[in-house]
Amino acid sequence: MRADFNVPLEEGKVRDDARIRAVVPTIENLLSRGAALVLASHLGRPKGEAVPGLKMDPVADRLGELLGKPVRKLDRVFGPEVSKAVDEMKSGEILLLENLRFEKGEESNDRDFARQLAEPVDLFVSDAFGTAHRAHASTAGVAEFIPAVAGLLMKKEIEELSRCLENPQRPLTAILGGAKVSDKINVMRRFLQLTDHLLVGGGMANTFLAARGYSLGQSFYEQDLLETAQSIINESEKSGCRLILPDDLVVTRELKPGSESEVMAPQDISGDWKAVDIGPETVKSFGRYISTSAMIIWNGPLGVFETPPFDEGTRLTAREVASSNAYSVVGGGDLVAALEALDLAGKVDFISTGGGATLEFWEGKELPGIKVLQDKT
Ligand code: 3PG
Repeated sequence: MRADFNVPLEEGKVRDDARIRAVVPTIENLLSRGAALVLASHLGRPKGEAVPGLKMDPVADRLGELLGKPVRKLDRVFGPEVSKAVDEMKSGEILLLENLRFEKGEESNDRDFARQLAEPVDLFVSDAFGTAHRAHASTAGVAEFIPAVAGLLMKKEIEELSRCLENPQRPLTAILGGAKVSDKINVMRRFLQLTDHLLVGGGMANTFLAARGYSLGQSFYEQDLLETAQSIINESEKSGCRLILPDDLVVTRELKPGSESEVMAPQDISGDWKAVDIGPETVKSFGRYISTSAMIIWNGPLGVFETPPFDEGTRLTAREVASSNAYSVVGGGDLVAALEALDLAGKVDFISTGGGATLEFWEGKELPGIKVLQDKT
């Protein structure tokens, strides 16, 4: 079973186990049906080298705690040691392979490496939705050699993320944040077609405000995307979707915790001020759209969340989403961590385990890790 155990580590331990918890139902289902389960995942971006700090041991420890049973961890991904260990497994046992990306063949989707991954096992279960946008040996290539099926998390992600766009309750509001427009151009264009309101915050909002002609002092924005931002503004005027940009912004001269800040309208930001969060009027305006929506989809924080107090706009908006009656779906690692820090993760209806994968799915792109399963079916 391919899982996405690409989790943050701190001092050799798993700091956030959401992605591990998310596949426990699939693991328990397979074990209850008598499987001997071989698990595999990548962790970080070791680029084909064995990096000691990215070994899978902390994941095996945390998974064992969650399941209440031992998870044996191997130091290899394939080869005789793995084949022997798998041959000796009994029904109900679990084994976790070493970090797949320690092997060069993983990211290059090397056919021979995929065949070696498939060799010791009978069936491939793909539950790694968060990595489904990568055409790697363990997400795509391996399905050429053995029967392949989707796990329960993969199925749920596909159902939840598609229903927002294919069968939405209206008004449907999308909230997009994060630093860069460049990461989100395609998803914005699709949202303009499919949603009723598109609320934009975070660094990416600055690029739109700059495209409207505001100078914004020292604020971060993507100079090379001003034309793209203007064309998205033009498209929004022709679409049935209202594009809502911040009316006011929290600005500071120095981005560090607790630094002095002010609230300014975009046209008043000049000199060495830089925008780092949405302001209180914007929080209110976003709140009005949120409270009257039937469905909300949200990706990306609305300010520099990791540097308080510039997390305020995201926090207050998260509270609005959590307390609204709308069906809410949230995706993207940064934002999910923010919701967990606020203890609001349980108050949204679905949290996607994907970052890039969720965005590409919402863009309407075909994800290779899903396509191979559909081809199999
Ligand atoms: C993620 O964290 O988004 C996935 O695990 C994919 O990781 P990657 O961006 O390193 O391929």
